[in-house]
Amino acid sequence: MERLKVLLTQEQIAKKVAELGAQITRDFVGESVVLIGVLKGATIFLADLAREIKLDATFDFIAVSSYGNSQRQSGEVKLMKDVDHSMEGKNIILVEDILDTGLTLTYLRNLLLAHKPKSLKIAALLDKVSRRQQPIHGDYVGFEIPDEFVVGYGLDFAERFRNLPEVCILETDEKSS
Ligand code: IMP
Ligand code: MG
Repeated sequence: MERLKVLLTQEQIAKKVAELGAQITRDFVGESVVLIGVLKGATIFLADLAREIKLDATFDFIAVSSYGNSQRQSGEVKLMKDVDHSMEGKNIILVEDILDTGLTLTYLRNLLLAHKPKSLKIAALLDKVSRRQQPIHGDYVGFEIPDEFVVGYGLDFAERFRNLPEVCILETDEKSS
């Protein structure tokens, strides 16, 4: 059995995304930014955030291996799709759905720093601070959340639930993962 419990409503998310967009706009006034979305979880957040950023902006996307059908990270990050363009001299904003152990964003940050960007910032809608294994933090973080498995607003469980407009806690009767 699966149960969904709303953690963040559409209104809460929209308000926060607008604040993050305004903050990014202020921080980069007069400059261009490249929003790099981490597929597929960040797509909805990126789409909403981008429209709150009043700057000259372009998009790129990157993909890494995911959890598969389990709720826990395997500990290994594998690049499945690289960015399409060189990021040399660019202001990168790496856009991710959630910071959990930090393994994914640590890997991606190192990969992108090798391009020699002008700057690199991390935007994450959600942050499970208590799960961190790597010393990495988001520059633009929407919400700090407890150690619960969440879905919706781009986040999935076995590719499902990405289209929910809210962020929900997914409770299953699965005893172990
Ligand atoms: P990290 O490498 O452990 O920080 O994990 C980041 C990735 O794990 C995110 O891009 C998500 O795809 C996935 N993830 C972590 N926590 C959750 C969750 O609660 N729900 C869905 N995906 C999650
Ligand atoms: Mg993801």
